[in-house]
Amino acid sequence: TELKNIRNFSIVAHIDHGKSTLADRLIQLTGTVAERDMKEQLLDAMDIERERGITIKANTVRIEYPAKDGETYVLNLIDTPGHVDFAYEVSRSMQAVEGSLLVVDASQGVEAQTLANVYQAIDADHEIVPVLNKVDLPAADCDRVAEQIEDVIGIDATDAVRISAKTGIGIPDVLEAIVTRLPAPKGDRDAPLKAMLVDSYYDAYLGVVVIIRVIDGVIKKGDRIKMMRTGGLYPVDRLGVFRPAMQNIAELGPGEIGFLTASIKQVRDTRVGDTITHEKKGCTEPLPGFKPAQPVVFCGLFPVDSAEFEDLRDAIEKLALNDASFSYEMETSAALGFGFRCGFLGLLHLEVIRDRLEREYGIDLITTAPSVIYHVHMKDGTMQELHNPADMPDLTYVDHIEEPRIKATILVPDEYLGDVLKLCQDRRGIQQDLTYAGTRAMVVYDLPLNEVVFDFYDRLKSVTKGYASFDYQMIGYRADFLVKMQVLVNDEPVDALSTMVHRDRAEQRGRAMCEKLKELIPRHMFKIPIQAAIGGRVIARETLSAMRKDVTAKCYGGDATRKKKLLEKQKAGKKKMRQFGKVEIPQQAFINALKMD
Ligand code: GTP
Repeated sequence: TELKNIRNFSIVAHIDHGKSTLADRLIQLTGTVAERDMKEQLLDAMDIERERGITIKANTVRIEYPAKDGETYVLNLIDTPGHVDFAYEVSRSMQAVEGSLLVVDASQGVEAQTLANVYQAIDADHEIVPVLNKVDLPAADCDRVAEQIEDVIGIDATDAVRISAKTGIGIPDVLEAIVTRLPAPKGDRDAPLKAMLVDSYYDAYLGVVVIIRVIDGVIKKGDRIKMMRTGGLYPVDRLGVFRPAMQNIAELGPGEIGFLTASIKQVRDTRVGDTITHEKKGCTEPLPGFKPAQPVVFCGLFPVDSAEFEDLRDAIEKLALNDASFSYEMETSAALGFGFRCGFLGLLHLEVIRDRLEREYGIDLITTAPSVIYHVHMKDGTMQELHNPADMPDLTYVDHIEEPRIKATILVPDEYLGDVLKLCQDRRGIQQDLTYAGTRAMVVYDLPLNEVVFDFYDRLKSVTKGYASFDYQMIGYRADFLVKMQVLVNDEPVDALSTMVHRDRAEQRGRAMCEKLKELIPRHMFKIPIQAAIGGRVIARETLSAMRKDVTAKCYGGDATRKKKLLEKQKAGKKKMRQFGKVEIPQQAFINALKMD
């Protein structure tokens, strides 16, 4: 296809503003899929995505559109993930296209995520077409929302396209706007091949499928290609486009987006942002901005039932094939037995993997406290990376400990600013900047990553009713007074509950943790002390009193079947429990005990 007849774009929207519905409509209107094959929300393939309403991996689709000017255009839509954990993937997808549709719900107005993502689009020099969706709703107020887009985001919204993705009103106007208002890609067909690796995934039949955007040159089936960052060399077996079903194609030229397969064994061998060129006569300079995936949050995953360890291993290996940003190694814990220490891009990523292990593979898991990587500087001058508080070396040999810090940018409506500042302050943040854009404040904080990994995002959303947008980047390591806090249940240390905390916060955290555990651990036939300790020193303590009667006593010894039922119910409940010495701790306690209020 000629460059002038190509348009590449993404859709930027806050959750629920109608991104998927619009994408489906565009596909439907251009006859890309037969009506009867049209499934709701084609682009969100995975179940978890559907359920949580989030898009995890970038998906692409190629649409052919005969425009009013008589020419037929190829429109490539790249769907981007909308969560901060995947900010890097979003930035690469944005680099692969020239424009964005900014979809805003006309009954709601600009909201949190719209901002974070629209700034990514602006950073990528996109032409942006504002689209006001849900005009069918009585509460829609297009003029107000258009004005808000201008005030808050600072882009012209006079020609915003007014649509209803649900009823179909205005969809043809969106297609015309894509063609007339977004720029065609640039590129040189005669230059050496230069293509960006936008995304990749594992397909059971085809192996690794790589999504690429060709910048310069032409790629053909049979070509021998090189990944410039990883050095991998492969012959291209198959080249194609998504319509949205896969369709083979002979070549992809400048400006085009499609996929290739090349007998690549695992997704790990492909890195988002890598540059693909020809093995011979390739380009010399890779594309800028490449960042290798770096796990930043670590936690232990253990099977509730230790007999499921092998199943867990298989499941983790399978998931890892499809996810280059996830790392794992075997771990043993005195309390939890055999499991894995896993690294993730962030908390959502952690939750997604854990959910998939539990749901798709049916393994009940215990998740230990998420931890960041600490730098432990020893008195002998060496440095150890600490991924797991349980491995903390003997303090007598430790000189000081450094922790990773982030620069967090938060956009929030005025009325919630006070709550946001308080939250950041509580999490040991140092304010760097505070500015206003319309009725919104933008705050920049220097925060310890470990105060953010657990539930910062949840807390932020809840104190701002979902109106804050949050983005962060790592800024480096800094020393602070950090200690390892242990938890003892019935005088036995439970290493899965060990955490690194700032010394000044240790008592408060310890108390909160003991109080929570007291709620979360069911009563036993005996009294159970629950303690938090630093080194050998107890800093907080609660006591769980003994159960007074046997549960079956309630049945007055009369009804035998009722008694049996009760015992069975208890037994089923036990499956989700874990034995620590004489005490049983429910699985949920591990994660809940660590949530801070
Ligand atoms: P996520 O996938 O969660 O990010 O959301 P999304 O932005 O893709 O939104 P989605 O397309 O799933 O739409 C969210 C809800 O809004 C769905 O229930 C849609 O049916 C509804 N919706 C989308 N467009 C319109 C519209 O034009 N009018 C009305 N009334 N409802 C709409």
